[in-house]
Amino acid sequence: MTWTTPNFADQQSFSPQSVFEAGERNHHVSNTAYPIAHEQTWGPYRVGRAQYRESLQQAFAGIDNLCLYAHIPFCEKRCSFCEYTVVGRNELNQTQEYMNRLYRELDMYAELLGPRRLWGFDIGGGTPSFVEARLIAEFMERVHRRFEGMDQLRVSIETTPSIAANQPDKLVAYRECGIQRISMGIQVIQPDLLLLLNRDNNGVEHHHQAVANLRAAGFDDFNVDVMYGFAGQSLASWQATLEHALALNPEAITLYRMRYKLTRISHQADQVSLDQVRQLARWAKKRLAQAGYQANPGKNTFTRVPGDTGTSDYISRRVIEGMPYLGLGLGAQTFTHTTIGYNDGAVGKNLLPYFRSLDAGNFPLQDHYQLPLVHMMAKMICVSFYFGEIDRQAFHDKFGRTLEQAYPAEIDYAVAQGLMEWKPRSLAMTTHGEDHFSGLCALFHAPSVKAYLLGRDPEQAGDFHKHRKLALRVAG
Ligand SMILES: C[S@@+](CC[C@H](N)C(=O)[O-])C[C@H]1O[C@@H](n2cnc3c(N)ncnc32)[C@H](O)[C@@H]1O
Ligand code: SF4
Repeated sequence: MTWTTPNFADQQSFSPQSVFEAGERNHHVSNTAYPIAHEQTWGPYRVGRAQYRESLQQAFAGIDNLCLYAHIPFCEKRCSFCEYTVVGRNELNQTQEYMNRLYRELDMYAELLGPRRLWGFDIGGGTPSFVEARLIAEFMERVHRRFEGMDQLRVSIETTPSIAANQPDKLVAYRECGIQRISMGIQVIQPDLLLLLNRDNNGVEHHHQAVANLRAAGFDDFNVDVMYGFAGQSLASWQATLEHALALNPEAITLYRMRYKLTRISHQADQVSLDQVRQLARWAKKRLAQAGYQANPGKNTFTRVPGDTGTSDYISRRVIEGMPYLGLGLGAQTFTHTTIGYNDGAVGKNLLPYFRSLDAGNFPLQDHYQLPLVHMMAKMICVSFYFGEIDRQAFHDKFGRTLEQAYPAEIDYAVAQGLMEWKPRSLAMTTHGEDHFSGLCALFHAPSVKAYLLGRDPEQAGDFHKHRKLALRVAG
C-alpha cells in the first residue's frame, strides 16, 4: 500500500498530555467526526478534478471487500440540529430526478470497479423513506444486479416517526425488496423542545403507531436514535425521553451527543458544558444496562440482542474492520485505504452540482484527497471509537503495523492514565476514558489536526460562527 508523503505539518510531534488537554478544551469539535479544520489540514492533499478517475481506479485496486452507502437528502422539513446533507424546501419535488442520478452514479462505479462483493449496505439520509417506495425498490434491484453478496447481508434504512406511522405501505415494500433493518429518530419527546428544534412534526403522537406498523411489516431489527446535549435540556427531560424510547422496546437504542459544528444552532454550543453532557450520558448508560441493553464503554449503540452489535452490517464493518466503503448520492463520503472523497453537495447542500457532474459523465466528487498514513490511521481510529475500541488485528491488516508501533507514546499515556486498556482483541476505552472521550480521540489525530486543536481557543473560535452562517444560508 502506498500513502501520500506527509507534509511538514504532519511530521511534527507533541506531548500526549498537551494534546489530551487541547482535545478536552475543544470537546465540541474533538469527536468521531474527523478531520477538523479540513481546509487547513487536508487541503494540501486535495486531488485535482482531472485526476479523479485515475485516482479512484488506483485507490480501489485490490479492494475485494466493500461496503455501500446511498444517501437520500430529502426530509419533510429540516431539523435545526441536523448536521447531515439535506436539501432545501424548493428541491423536495425532485425525488425522481435525484434517484435517476443515483442509479447513474451506481452504474459508473460498478463499471469502474468490476465485480465486487458487498459486506454492508445502508440507505441513509436525510430521510430515505421520504421518496416513493418504488424508487427504493428499483435501487435495491440495481444494486443486486451490480454487486455480489447482497443475499448474505442485512440492508438497513432510516425513517422518521411520522412517515412510519402514516405510510405503512412503504415499510411493507421495504421488507419485500429485501431490507431487513430499520432505524428511526425519536431525538427528544418534549413538545416545546421539538418545536424549538423544528421537529414538531415528529412528536410522540406518531411513535406507537410507527412501531406497530414496522413490526407488522416484519421488521425484527429496529433501532431508535435519541439525542442529548441540547441547551437547557434537563436531566429530568432526558430521563423522560429515554424511558419513552425503552417503552417502544426496540432491539437497539443509539445515543447521540449533539455535535454543533455545521448546524443552525451552533451558537448554543457555549451553553452546554462537558459536565452537563457527562451527567446525561452516565445516567443513560446506567439505565440502559438496568433495562438489559448492553454496550462496552465508549459505545453509543446499546442492544438487547445477545451477540449482536446493534448496528447495521455497514456500520459494524466500517467501525470494527475499517472496511472501505463507496458512498453514493449528495454529499456522500467514500473511503478506501489511501483516499477519502466527498460528493458534490457536501458543502452547498443543493442538487445542481451533483446533477451537472453526472449529466456530464463525471464522478460527482466535490473533494477527493490522497492522504498520508497519519490521517488514514486517525480516521479509522475515530470511527472505531463509535464502538469504544480499536480492533488490533484489523488495524494491523489495514496499515501493516501494530497499534503500539504506530502510537507508542500516546498509548503509554492513555494506558497509564487509565483511559484505555489492552484486551486480547482490542485496545479498549475504560469508563474513565469514556468520560474524557474528546481528549482521548485527540491523541490519535494526525499532527496537523493536533496543532490546530492546540492553537484553538474555544472561547474565541470563529469557526463555529462561520459554519452557522453557512448552515443557515444553505438550509433553505
Ligand atoms: C441521518 S440522521 C436521521 C434519520 C431520520 N431522518 C430521522 O430524523 O429520524 C441519523 C441520526 O443522526 C442524529 N443527528 C442528527 N444531527 C445530529 C447532530 N448535529 N449531532 C449528533 N447527532 C445528530 C439523529 O439522532 C438522527 O436520528
Ligand atoms: S434529523 Fe432526520 S429529519 Fe431531521 S433534518 Fe436531519 S435527516 Fe432530516
